Amino acid sequence: MRAWSRAERARGRRIGFVPTMGYLHEGHLRLVDRAKELADRVVLSIFVNPLQFGPKEDFSTYPRDLARDRQLAEARGVDCLFVPDASEMYPGGGEPVARVTAGAMGDTLEGAARPGHFSGVLTVVAKLFHLVAPDVAVFGRKDFQQAMLVQRMVRDLDFPVAIDVAPTVRELDGLALSSRNTYLTPDQRRSALALSRALRAVEQTWRGGEAEPAALERRGLEILRTPGVEPEYLALVDEDLRSVTRATPRTVAVVAARVGATRLIDNVVLGDGVAADPTVRP
Ligand code: PAJ
Repeated sequence: MRAWSRAERARGRRIGFVPTMGYLHEGHLRLVDRAKELADRVVLSIFVNPLQFGPKEDFSTYPRDLARDRQLAEARGVDCLFVPDASEMYPGGGEPVARVTAGAMGDTLEGAARPGHFSGVLTVVAKLFHLVAPDVAVFGRKDFQQAMLVQRMVRDLDFPVAIDVAPTVRELDGLALSSRNTYLTPDQRRSALALSRALRAVEQTWRGGEAEPAALERRGLEILRTPGVEPEYLALVDEDLRSVTRATPRTVAVVAARVGATRLIDNVVLGDGVAADPTVRP
């Protein structure tokens, strides 16, 4: 991987990078489009990172289809597909001695629900940045807390990488694309619309003049509480994932809920709105 990057850079080419866990969908592929706008060569990595899954989470059942991913990546113009083995990424198989810890920003919201998750994410992203040595890396806003944490890590640890955050790609009915959507039955998929609906309700209530976070959260939770959906959190936060005291155009409404056994997350920037996000046909 390094040899490839070195050779490309020696030819004066800028390298764009899209890290993923595979089972590619249009959300991932839009990140590739964005990377192609920002760089001359695009690397896409596929690695289901054991370090970021909790003991009771879906690491072993996480969807995988390398043959399909390879076709999709190639058709979208990915120049280099990087698919490291777990034994290469974590030699010896055990807990790494050195890892990146996430700090307070990684302990709230997703971090509170999934202890250690963001340390696992930041550690693998740091390793991938060292291996791929990109000029720019593109992350999805869909995983808002992850994108903000990666931006902070790059700043805190002086990685020579620019971070670009691309909008959440949705189905026409509002459901944010996710590899985990494949776990949903048709009924559960209908229930899962409660997340984007709740965000829309928060956003509309805010546009209607309500700026009190507690009132906005109540409104969102009313919509989120539907049969088949177990809300985990709905919160109004700033870019540092701190609760806001007043909702402004930069405030982000973040939501997590369980639909059956599947945990889903979504978010919206109040000033932008869910309707501003790009959509795809099924
Ligand atoms: P994964 O869930 O495969 O997502 C890879 C990238 O695609 C992330 O930046 C994510 O935010 C983005 N993405 C997923 N769904 C999206 C959607 N609907 N619209 C726009 N972007 C979307 O996130 C991870 O993998 C891992 O944590 C990783 C960063 C690769 C580290 O292991």
